[in-house]
Amino acid sequence: MPDIFTPFNVKDLAIKNRVVMPAMCMYSSDESGQVRDFHLLHYTTRAMGGTGLIILEATAVEKRGRISQMDLGIWEDAQIQGLKGLVDEVHRDGAKIGIQLAHAGRKSDTAGDVIAPSPLLYNLKYSTPREMNREDITTVIEAFGEGARRAYEAGFDYVEIHAAHGYLINEFLSPLTNERKDDYGGGSGNRVRFLKEVVIKVREQWPIEKPLGIRISAYEYAAGGNTPEDISFMINLIKDEEVDLLNVSSGGVVDGPIEVFPGYQIRYGSEVKKKTNLPVVVGGLLEHHHMANEIIRNSRGDLIYLGRELLRNPYWVLQASRKLGMEDVVWPRQYERAKGNKLLR
Ligand SMILES: Cc1cc2nc3c(=O)[nH]c(=O)nc-3n(C[C@H](O)[C@H](O)[C@H](O)COP(=O)(O)O)c2cc1C
Repeated sequence: MPDIFTPFNVKDLAIKNRVVMPAMCMYSSDESGQVRDFHLLHYTTRAMGGTGLIILEATAVEKRGRISQMDLGIWEDAQIQGLKGLVDEVHRDGAKIGIQLAHAGRKSDTAGDVIAPSPLLYNLKYSTPREMNREDITTVIEAFGEGARRAYEAGFDYVEIHAAHGYLINEFLSPLTNERKDDYGGGSGNRVRFLKEVVIKVREQWPIEKPLGIRISAYEYAAGGNTPEDISFMINLIKDEEVDLLNVSSGGVVDGPIEVFPGYQIRYGSEVKKKTNLPVVVGGLLEHHHMANEIIRNSRGDLIYLGRELLRNPYWVLQASRKLGMEDVVWPRQYERAKGNKLLR
């Protein structure tokens, strides 16, 4: 029976344990979208702390697709070198690293050309988006493909397409934000078309032996919004395009409160796993090592993500290994003497 310290393999990616740091925007770049010293320190600290797979924060495939003016970017070749430096450092500290390819759609506050499937405002913090025409659709799909090529050149182990939290791709998927009358709107087979075309274009650049994942909002907390059943149905229509992993989140599509509690999104992940037969990353306010371990041991998910807990505590994995008595877990050489209480001299 696997536990959080059991390795996990998907395609050519071998992860040493089941703990994932999910994408978390740090808004610490600038207009250039380049990797800065902060990113190197931030991500390598979580790698040293034993995290199995680190997913780089939402990284914009188009400049107008940034959430803020301080997002990381992968919209031009000049950004590859900085990303490669980050990948190499994280690898040196023993973790695998993926990148989340993103486009903000209507949830962009960069005051540029804000685009979305339909001209519907999210809330007053943002501006009303312009409805995308066919040319915009083609341009953005190309940008995801180019982002994947750059991610490959930078040496990432995993690519995740951001289709959650009410950003551009999610806006196509949801009936609450997509009122299009063309092939990209209407029934779920049409609403998933944009994501499908993104996946196909990404796959042209991202080798078949490397895993490709999708981050989804499996529940929208609003009447008429997508449910785990709706999302699973759409994923089943496209998963043959070599989709390997689903990272299951919820919400963010329409503005409104969400009731959260430890494990609040696990059941969505478990349902999507059952309905799609794809491995899933699950999480939501996870913090306690027994709870995290229980999820893997009961096969409620294949991997777990710890977001805010890894911001609070980059050494969570090492500490969990002590608390769970996992003596075989490899610690960074420099910290080995902290593994136990016996002071070796
Ligand atoms: C500071 C911060 C930034 C985030 N940025 C992203 C992001 O770039 N992409 C994404 O898919 N989710 C993002 N999220 C959501 C997290 O990946 C995660 O799903 C969420 O925090 C729930 O997990 P947790 O309860 O363990 O924190 C962000 C969350 C936080 C706290």
